[in-house]
Amino acid sequence: MDTVGPPLVLGVLREEAGGERRVALTPDAVGRAQALGLSVLVELGAGDAALYADAEYVGAGAECGPRDAVLNRADLVVCVRAPGLQVLDALRPRQLLLGMLRPDVDLALATRMADSKVTLIGFEGLPRTLSRAQSMDALTSQANVAGYKSVLVAADAYGGFFPMLMTAAGTTRPAAVLVLGAGVAGLQAIATAKRLGARVTGYDVRAEAQDDVRSLGAAFLDLGAVSVVSEGGYARPLTPEESALQQQALVDAIDAFDVVITTAQVPGRRPPVLVPREALDRLGPGSVVVDIAASSLGGNVDGSVPDATTVTDRGVTVIGAGNLPSQVPRASSTAYARNVTALLGLLIRDGALHIDLQDEVQSGLVVTHDGVVFRPETLGGSR
Ligand code: NAI
Repeated sequence: MDTVGPPLVLGVLREEAGGERRVALTPDAVGRAQALGLSVLVELGAGDAALYADAEYVGAGAECGPRDAVLNRADLVVCVRAPGLQVLDALRPRQLLLGMLRPDVDLALATRMADSKVTLIGFEGLPRTLSRAQSMDALTSQANVAGYKSVLVAADAYGGFFPMLMTAAGTTRPAAVLVLGAGVAGLQAIATAKRLGARVTGYDVRAEAQDDVRSLGAAFLDLGAVSVVSEGGYARPLTPEESALQQQALVDAIDAFDVVITTAQVPGRRPPVLVPREALDRLGPGSVVVDIAASSLGGNVDGSVPDATTVTDRGVTVIGAGNLPSQVPRASSTAYARNVTALLGLLIRDGALHIDLQDEVQSGLVVTHDGVVFRPETLGGSR
């Protein structure tokens, strides 16, 4: 069937959140959007912070214009993180907004968007284990970047070498790195630390993560205390008793490590505390702890604060990691844009938008459509 009428317009917003350097669509993705029958309109300066100039978008066949033009003309609007209220309230009926909406869009805001008949699509609800959804998995692509960058941040703050170095002046031992949480970010952190030559150990509360850790050539830390069977690939929250056992086991094991990277999350909840104060105090002076899970509600490390570095009175550097993918803006934007165009490939048929709530992937992703809020459990949250 041929497209009737002018092509749908895909609008790309300039990110508003402080310090956010990513952009939702990169110039190399413009052609992929056009191949779906879309014309692309990019907000002026949207790629600047990721070093993609407006001229590159124009060279790729997109148009650039001010935000008002994007909001007026776009049928579909893409973002990395949810825009502010001013933009959300400017969206009109049947416009679609696609992005990582958690934690900025909560149920009240989604209800407001539904009342305005705006369609919201959030990557958080993607059924990640379905193989046809994997090219659309923005949580994974961004967690990969976070895991990689966390190791570079740790290595930068660490006062020693990661690899064993043999020089005329002597031999240094490799850094001992412990990665807590072996999901996407944790496994990438393990792989990256291995490549830097560190001696790496991983841990996860999910029993099945042991094989993943060992397959990367790292050791698995057996805390013995707690092990859970995952639900849909995710860990369940631990009971207070289990959590206390886990923390104590870690206190007993942690002094063997120079660098600790924590990545443990439980979707939609405050991240579990894995490294209590007592464990921090067992680390030697000069040790570094990077908490990828640091959030405004707390992180995996007692007292970690997002985007803040503190040094304990025993000389342990604690880094609350904040938005790590934004610190690798070109790679994270390129990967995100691939996820966006793969998802658009599912939503656009013959140049027209087809929301199909019977489709297993789409039914996970659609947050609001036709005045209804779906999947409220994918909203808000602690990240
Ligand atoms: P996440 O970011 O929600 O959590 C990170 C890790 O923290 C998880 O491995 C989790 O088990 C662990 N964790 C939670 N509580 C813990 C605790 N108290 N102590 C120690 N570790 C704790 O997870 P992510 O990276 O989003 O992945 C979740 C799951 O989904 C993983 O099993 C991952 O392998 C799987 N996955 C599968 C995909 C696929 O099949 N294509 C794609 C993406 C993820």
